Amino acid sequence: MPAPSSLKRLLTLWLVAPLLALIVISAIPGYFLAVRAANDAYDNGLLDPAIAIANYVRENEDEVEVSLPPAAIEALRTDTIDRIFFQVTGPANEVIAGNATIPLPELAMDTTGQALYSAVLDEQAVRVAVISVPRRNGNVLIQVAETTLKRDRLVHDILLGALTPALLVAVTAAILFWFGIRRSLSPLAQLRDEIERRSPGDLRPVPDGGAPLEVRPLVFAINQLLARLAQALEAQQRFIANAAHQLRTPLAGLRTHVELMRRESGKNGSSALIDMIAGETERASHLANQLLTLARAEPGSSLPIARAPINLRELVSQGVQAWVPRSVLRNIDLGFDLHDAKTFGDPQLLRELLANLLDNALIHTAPGGRVTVRTRREPGIALLELEDDGPGIPEAERERVFERFYRVPGTVTEGGGLGLAIVREIADRHDASVKLLAPPSGQGLLVRVSFGEQQ
Ligand SMILES: Nc1ncnc2c1ncn2[C@@H]1O[C@H](COP(=O)(O)OP(=O)(O)OP(=O)(O)O)[C@@H](O)[C@H]1O
Ligand SMILES: [Mg+2]
Repeated sequence: MPAPSSLKRLLTLWLVAPLLALIVISAIPGYFLAVRAANDAYDNGLLDPAIAIANYVRENEDEVEVSLPPAAIEALRTDTIDRIFFQVTGPANEVIAGNATIPLPELAMDTTGQALYSAVLDEQAVRVAVISVPRRNGNVLIQVAETTLKRDRLVHDILLGALTPALLVAVTAAILFWFGIRRSLSPLAQLRDEIERRSPGDLRPVPDGGAPLEVRPLVFAINQLLARLAQALEAQQRFIANAAHQLRTPLAGLRTHVELMRRESGKNGSSALIDMIAGETERASHLANQLLTLARAEPGSSLPIARAPINLRELVSQGVQAWVPRSVLRNIDLGFDLHDAKTFGDPQLLRELLANLLDNALIHTAPGGRVTVRTRREPGIALLELEDDGPGIPEAERERVFERFYRVPGTVTEGGGLGLAIVREIADRHDASVKLLAPPSGQGLLVRVSFGEQQ
């Protein structure tokens, strides 16, 4: 997979690369202008010595000669920066005087008999001034060449003077742009945090306050998706709830009919079969009830949960009558240790939570075992605990048992694997935590549900 491109890097590159290209391109005409300016500044100065030498050109009968005084030669050579050369060529192209072989101009000279051109002398760039002095036998050429250090320096200074501010502007623009993009992208980071913080069931719209115009369509699209998801979830929950609800009526009828059959069966002895049908009917109604509870407890359920003040102690003691007969039937010692533990919640859902935990404790604990229900408060917390001395749940399975339809491998007791999923959903809806622990004795299971305490 190609590495994801960074918007920040991409945008900065789009700014910096054209800016740099622009600076480089503008430097090209800048360079030629600077060279012209440098030549303009120094060319006149180069013609002067040529004219001066011309004054020393003498003609004796057939010969042309130059008698430069030593002081003049010295003056020609001395320049603080550049080296100067000269050459005088006679009408027959014979060198009359000079200290270097200076190349001739490629172009014709103008009417004044003067020309200025660039050439290379001993692998060094030079600027040459040439004047042509007419004599009886032809023209005498006087060339003065000067290395270009002064001119190069001037070109360099002019270019530097022009490019430095441009480069400074480019660098400052890039830095400002970088920070600007970082700031402008911060709403996206906020959006990411907001979505990251969410629990999977939280399908409320994402707030778009403060998001820039360009990001709003994204927030809008996310919110639309969330709304559609919430709708789909609700439709699914409604479907499950309706299906479970519809199933309950025929199942209740079936139970009644099985009971009637049982009464009749005394006569023809088919009670084992009837018991099986009764057991299966019982399990089917249990599953239908659990599906209904789960659909109700899930986030996004169309039924809002109540937030009534509740004392867990009362909640447990009200349900006792329903559970004692079952514990007697299974020969389990069901004990209670109840203290005030006040919180807020939906009494019906909390009863379902307790029912599922008690159901587990009574079903998964072998006959002769002991189950204790406790309620008490700790600072800021209202606690509900169920302890049994059954087989317990291995540490590695303690998270998975909360999954729907998951049962610890090897579990022989009856059940569909929805009980703890319901417990977790209800606890989540109440901002409570459920922990599966080993009881102090080391044998069995201790389930601890911690609610926020009612102040
Ligand atoms: N008190 C317990 N002691 C030992 N194992 C338990 C206890 N409670 C739950 N478990 C294990 O966790 C699994 C999941 O429990 P859960 O209540 O979700 O499903 P279930 O009891 O099998 O079926 P259902 O509750 O839907 O009738 C159980 O199958 C069982 O293996
Ligand atoms: Mg269960």
